[in-house]
Amino acid sequence: MIRLKAVFVSACLIIISGCYYGNEEDLFPDSGCVTENVSFDTVVKKIIDTNCIVCHSAGANLGNVNLSSYDNVKVYVNNGKLLGAIRREPGFSPMPQNAAPLRSCDIDRIASWITAGSPNN
Ligand code: HEC
Repeated sequence: MIRLKAVFVSACLIIISGCYYGNEEDLFPDSGCVTENVSFDTVVKKIIDTNCIVCHSAGANLGNVNLSSYDNVKVYVNNGKLLGAIRREPGFSPMPQNAAPLRSCDIDRIASWITAGSPNN
C-alpha cells in the first residue's frame, strides 16, 4: 500500500512539473507570431502608426521622412531604409529613434511583407 502511494505521488509530481512551462513569452518570444500574408492596412500601417508616425507624419516629417501613406512608406521600402532602420543595421539610423527596438515579431512581419513584394493590401 505504501509503495502504491509512492508511485501515485511521484506520478502526480511528474504530471504537475510537466505542466509548468514558465512564462511562455520568455521561452517562446515569437510563439503566435503570424508572418504569412501580412497586410499593409491591418499590420504594417498599425505598427508604423504606433511607433513611428509621431515623428514621421506629413506634418512632423522628421529627417524629411514621411511614412503617412502607402506610397510614402514604399519609398523607404524600395531604398532599403525601412528595414535597415528597424533592424538597426550598420549604415542606417536605428528606429524608432531614442526608443527600444520594435518587437521582433513586428520586425519579422514587416520583413515578410516586404519579401512578398510589399503589396498595398
Ligand atoms: C522620436 C522621433 C522618431 C521616431 C519615433 C521614429 N523616427 Fe525615424 N527618424 C527620426 C529622425 C530625426 C530621423 C532623421 C535623422 C536620422 O536619420 O537619424 C529619422 C530617420 C528615419 C529614416 C531614414 C533613415 C536613414 O538611415 O536614412 C527611416 C527609414 C526612419 N526614420 C524610419 C522610422 C520608422 C520605421 C520608425 C518606427 C519604427 C521611426 N522612424 C520612428 C525620428 C524618429
